[in-house]
Amino acid sequence: MSQSPRKLLVTSALPYANGPIHIGHLVEYLQTDIWVRFQKLTGQDCLYICASDAHGTPIMLRARQENIDPEILVENFRHEHQKDFADFHIAFDNYHSTHSEENRELVEDIFAKLDSKNLIERRTIEQAYDESAGMFLPDRFLKGTCPKCGARDQYGDNCEACGATYSTSELVDPRSILSDTAPVLRESEHLFFRLGEFEPMLRDWIQGDAVDDSVGRKLQEWFDAGLQDWDISRDAPYFGFRIPGTDNKYFYVWLDAPVGYMASFKNLCQRRDDLLFDDYFGADSEAELYHFIGKDIVYFHTLFWPAVLEGAGYRKPTQVFAHGFLTVNGQKMSKSRGTFVSARCYLNNLNAECLRYYYAVKLSAGIEDIDLNLEDFVARVNSDLVGKLVNIASRCAGFIDKGFEGQLADTLERPELYDEFVAAGDVIAKRYNDRNYSHAVREIMALADLANQYIDERKPWVLAKEGKTTEVQATCTQGLNLFRVLMTYLTPVLPEMAAKVAEFLQVETRHWDDRRTPLLGCRIGKFAPLLQRIDPKQVDNMIAQSLEGS
Ligand code: 2FM
Ligand code: ZN
Repeated sequence: MSQSPRKLLVTSALPYANGPIHIGHLVEYLQTDIWVRFQKLTGQDCLYICASDAHGTPIMLRARQENIDPEILVENFRHEHQKDFADFHIAFDNYHSTHSEENRELVEDIFAKLDSKNLIERRTIEQAYDESAGMFLPDRFLKGTCPKCGARDQYGDNCEACGATYSTSELVDPRSILSDTAPVLRESEHLFFRLGEFEPMLRDWIQGDAVDDSVGRKLQEWFDAGLQDWDISRDAPYFGFRIPGTDNKYFYVWLDAPVGYMASFKNLCQRRDDLLFDDYFGADSEAELYHFIGKDIVYFHTLFWPAVLEGAGYRKPTQVFAHGFLTVNGQKMSKSRGTFVSARCYLNNLNAECLRYYYAVKLSAGIEDIDLNLEDFVARVNSDLVGKLVNIASRCAGFIDKGFEGQLADTLERPELYDEFVAAGDVIAKRYNDRNYSHAVREIMALADLANQYIDERKPWVLAKEGKTTEVQATCTQGLNLFRVLMTYLTPVLPEMAAKVAEFLQVETRHWDDRRTPLLGCRIGKFAPLLQRIDPKQVDNMIAQSLEGS
């Protein structure tokens, strides 16, 4: 009896539409895309949603600097980002914008519901104000001397020299980074979301498997410190949605950003007859909702977001998956070292699937940082993908093409070896599902070694010289079938190569279970090179171009 597919809605964090996508961002989009592709391949009804994060002070200021409307700035970046993602084979089911009518309606509605339930409080606060720029200053727009260690030129909320965190009012000799003048304190009424009301619900929510243990421990610390009300308003000038009933207050970007997940999905529902918004976001939805995020935005996604959803009568996320940051050659990405590489700069020099593969080699489910060691990257791709994987096909394809007009044998020479490959699929599937891609890849490459060993033992090139044609066909049929199983396992990571292989073998793999049926007695196509070795010079060029661009 076949089970009906689960409904999964999956998101990656919405990238700010004011700068290029870089290889650090790609950790998350590739991690998510691999997971989504795996779910689809195993027959789940899975949708992958994203959008541009369009609002906030930095976007407003950048648009001013470039002398264009912020709407135009964010649309330009949205298009650029979508092109970058597409070229990395990141396949969203929908990509929208938080600066959209769907999002405005949802945010206004959510706010009205929270307000009607007395979950919004109005309070007057004092905040740093830049008189010459005519605006209140977010913490990041203030610099000054650290009150703890005396280091100069530190941000308004934390010191990079001694690691202290403090409130902006404690900063010594504060300056606005916009005008280099000393800010004044000015009063303004702000709107606060009463997060504290949700503590019992949140404690309960994390008791399940909504977050990993390491994130759960962090949340415990936050509960122990006491949950503060959340300031969800900003004063004009601001680029965002104006708060109804006010004429100079806007929703803080971090309120409408996660609502952007819903807005993007709503936009998709409007274009598809088979999708109903409430099936996914209604309070008693049976669909599953997964958010992939970086470890820096856990607070927003595991405290504010579920509380806002609950307060406004929607369902909560099923699970929030946090990942670590990217380092390059063991260090933070750096413009001066040329390791702050944009997605486009990478693509100008290297094949997207090499990075997809290398990140898969490195990724596990935790929040540890992952390292892109450039030498290791070249070595791993060349030895695993070219030297092991593609090698299996290229050693067998020629014999079948030339000697048998592309015809495969009718039976497998070593059925038990084939069965071993098929059986490994259950463990590999579990690894993918658990986001343990590094283990999945390790198991797949161990099988690739076995396939190569088998061909080494059978030596079809010797059999061919000895005129043992039936054996040549049998061995190469076996080799190509093993290769096909491996490609099925790597389809979530290497979708482009999988498409080329489908053309070569003249059969498309639509489902993980297709691997169970070997290809026998049929005709296959001509083998075309699947992947070129990386020349280390390509990496050198990429770094040189990245340096030039910075
Ligand atoms: O941290 C960021 O880059 C944000 N733009 C992520 C937003 S995720 C979601 F909440 F929209
Ligand atoms: Zn300090």
